[in-house]
Amino acid sequence: MQRRALIAGNWKMNLSLKEAISLTKEIANGILDIEDRDILIAPPFPYLYPITQLLKGSKIYLSAQNMHWEREGAFTGEVSGLMLKDVGCTHVIIGHSERRIIFQETDEQIARKINTALEIGLCPILCVGEKLEERESAQTFSVIKSQLEGALGHLRSVPDSFVIAYEPVWAIGTGRTATPSQAQEVHSFIREWIRKKFGEEKSSAIRILYGGSVKPENIRDLMSEKDIDGVLVGGASLKSESFLKIIRF
Ligand code: PGA
Repeated sequence: MQRRALIAGNWKMNLSLKEAISLTKEIANGILDIEDRDILIAPPFPYLYPITQLLKGSKIYLSAQNMHWEREGAFTGEVSGLMLKDVGCTHVIIGHSERRIIFQETDEQIARKINTALEIGLCPILCVGEKLEERESAQTFSVIKSQLEGALGHLRSVPDSFVIAYEPVWAIGTGRTATPSQAQEVHSFIREWIRKKFGEEKSSAIRILYGGSVKPENIRDLMSEKDIDGVLVGGASLKSESFLKIIRF
């Protein structure tokens, strides 16, 4: 099965409103002729609504970077998935390593967020990835497996549109990208896990993105690997020039 490439930009906690608007316009104008791949941006919460307005008629998907697992209630400072849908999001990043590590997000919380996102019709982009010390002590596959089981082990199925992003923590924001073969090895492990858990059809439909210091210079080699279906880009998605080069790899 030919999976459509997905190029996603995770803006994290960056940019002013003015910069976010300019960047959105530049990306939207820069991809008008592109038909054969999906493009997604994940701006900070306060910019989602103004950006939705700019994206009317555009093919760019809008994602949030996080959500709470409850639909509403007394959770000061949190944002619900229903609110995200209301302002035009189609996707939500769940379990990014910065949330797991800096904000101590647990597998249980991640599983609850996945459940709610699926129930309300937001497409999750589930992030998994090992730390440097885990890679160096040969625990990469056991860490990935336990993150997958923690987030998805309780589910009977997931939609074909479900996205998983493999983001080795040691490659995020460090300039140190996993080599295409290091990434492919883990991507194929993830696909095999999906096949065992959800069956052959799901495993060939679900897109697995690579994230961690993706740049215009390394995108082509990464995308040439069989199980790399796209990328989740942080730093290089903050400038239209580099993000558009990545999109057009
Ligand atoms: P980076 O971030 O491209 O800046 O390494 C990727 C991510 O955290 O999604």
